Amino acid sequence: MRAEISQSLSKAVKYIFIIYVTTSLIYTARHLYTTYSPSSNDNTVHVASLQRDATPISEHPIEAKKDTRLEKQIVWVNEQGVDQNMSENFMLSKVFSDAMGPSKVIPYYFKAKTPLDSEDITIATLVTRDRFPVLSRLVTHYQGPISVAIHIQDDESHEEILAELHELYRTNSLMKEYVDLHLIVDKFDRQFNMWRNVAKFFARTDYIVMLDVDFHICTDFRQSIRENPAIMEKLRSGNTALVIPAFEFVEQPDGLDWKTFPTSKHDLLEIVEEGKIDMFHRGWKKGHGSTNYTKWYESDSVYLVTDYNFSYEPYVIYKKEGSPWCDERFIGYGANKAACLYEIYLSGIEYEVLPHDFLIHQTHYYPESERAKERNYNRKLYDSFREEVCLRYARMFITAGEWDSPRADNLRNECRKNRAFRAAIKGLA
Ligand SMILES: *[C@@H]1O[C@H](CO)[C@@H](O)[C@H](O)[C@H]1NC(C)=O
Ligand SMILES: *[C@@H]1O[C@H](CO)[C@@H](O)[C@H](O)[C@H]1NC(C)=O
Ligand SMILES: *[C@@H]1O[C@H](CO)[C@@H](O)[C@H](O)[C@H]1NC(C)=O
Repeated sequence: MRAEISQSLSKAVKYIFIIYVTTSLIYTARHLYTTYSPSSNDNTVHVASLQRDATPISEHPIEAKKDTRLEKQIVWVNEQGVDQNMSENFMLSKVFSDAMGPSKVIPYYFKAKTPLDSEDITIATLVTRDRFPVLSRLVTHYQGPISVAIHIQDDESHEEILAELHELYRTNSLMKEYVDLHLIVDKFDRQFNMWRNVAKFFARTDYIVMLDVDFHICTDFRQSIRENPAIMEKLRSGNTALVIPAFEFVEQPDGLDWKTFPTSKHDLLEIVEEGKIDMFHRGWKKGHGSTNYTKWYESDSVYLVTDYNFSYEPYVIYKKEGSPWCDERFIGYGANKAACLYEIYLSGIEYEVLPHDFLIHQTHYYPESERAKERNYNRKLYDSFREEVCLRYARMFITAGEWDSPRADNLRNECRKNRAFRAAIKGLA
């Protein structure tokens, strides 16, 4: 018994140590990155060999970095004033180390020119090649900071994709103003959570909205949030994620042209009444049902999500610092976004629904066949992931003396549903 206790104690110590080291590494890396990265206050792209928009892109900009002398260095100074340097590639390989690798991450391949207000909300999103025109539309419509992760398959196709990107910048001058665009070059497709983390990691405002590029932003949520001191305070505190309810037209053709979409809750409610539009993915209630749409229709002020479901995957605005990252072990379709939101919820962040703002999905055809296998795989992964996250955060709360605090409420209520968790935690809490 005694041995068991001391064993689990030493495990706990080990565990804390690992968390400590990881957190400091990530923190240091981020700090160094923002403080010392040579591109943090000018517009030059990191890797010396990368080409800018005006230059031809036929010189294999992405491959030309085998020469380590060209490799970007991250430099910092220790307490004694001694320089230390490390290659950016090496550092980023640790930052995204849960994903499949090796990957080449190229931050700020294009960097937005418009000065930022740190209290603004950056759209953090990932965009695949077939959605480039949709991104361009979003940029024109939002005219605010956007951080985009774009995956480039590490093969002959990358020249073509880059050419398309440059063309996008040529045809829409607002791209240059508002978009920070980051490339991920590797052989692994659909690492959605890693791509999300890239977009979040390099976002340059305090708050982000994790959004799918296909959604049309119907209302000016930036303005409604920033004009509301109580809501701003919730965001600043870091313990609230604001949900923007998402809708979808019942008949696909109705959802093709955003110009016909409602722009006020009043107009939206009319077509809800007519049965033309409904919650997003009404065939998969678990995905957005926790928003409680019937309540939203009547609400005039923010309200708390009380019926949380582990499949809940709303679009949320939250504080960048201090919030959990998306687990990069989820690759492909299924559970990836729900896993992000699960960990955010368990970490003690509350979901509160914005009463007047909403999003509408712009419908388009997408093939379903390839997704089924990945969904199956990720469902399995998500089952064990939830147990793991419960244990991990429970350990953290207990060790920090916060087990009985309101911050641990979400965890205690949610993880209690898991039998293995209940058994494992019995002796500790
Ligand atoms: C990084 O270190 C190498 C050798 O250790 C040195 O030649 C180089 O100048 C350093 N880079 C920077 C930016 O300090
Ligand atoms: C929410 O999750 C539970 C499992 O915890 C499930 O049984 C239930 O059907 C879900 N509720 C909704 C509205 O989907
Ligand atoms: C949703 O909101 C309605 C109206 O406020 C309420 O009656 C209902 O209980 C809520 N549903 C859930 C599952 O919380």
